[in-house]
Amino acid sequence: MAATAWIGGTLLLFLLGIFLKGKEAQAQTYEHLGPLYGYFESVWLAVLLATGSFMFFHFNLIDVLTLDINESRLGYMMSHKLFYVGAITILTIIHMKIAFKTHKQERSIIQKIVSRGSSLMIFFLNLAILWFAMQLRQILS
Ligand code: HEM
Repeated sequence: MAATAWIGGTLLLFLLGIFLKGKEAQAQTYEHLGPLYGYFESVWLAVLLATGSFMFFHFNLIDVLTLDINESRLGYMMSHKLFYVGAITILTIIHMKIAFKTHKQERSIIQKIVSRGSSLMIFFLNLAILWFAMQLRQILS
């Protein structure tokens, strides 16, 4: 449920940013929806990090990280997923910091680039994480 809420949320806001026509409509949407969305997504990401870590220890997966990733499919999938989850967490923190700092304000060019770039990367990394998660589920079942 956390994965669907988190990924679904990032997908929706990402697509709104592209397809919602009109500068005023964009500004209004982000002004009203932005903070609520930020809290909503933070909760689900925290749930994913907590439940993911729980499963990680429950399945005793620490050892697979030390295996050669060319030899172990599980080690490969787990280490890649963890790397992308780490990256997405950092990008989310950066993205949210800018969003809350500049809420209802005009953004500088740098802030715009970093904000949109991080949002784009979060979008694509989510697809990769989902793919690794599916492989993990298959291997562990
Ligand atoms: C953005 C963050 C994350 C997303 C979107 C995500 C998504 C998912 C999904 C969709 C599954 C399949 C669940 C199922 O079919 O039962 C899964 C499984 C798994 N995840 Fe994550 N996850 C995230 C973070 C983490 C973290 C931080 C860890 C470990 C520290 C982790 C460890 C695992 C493990 C071990 C499984 C396989 C166990 C199982 O499905 O029973 N995940 N993840």
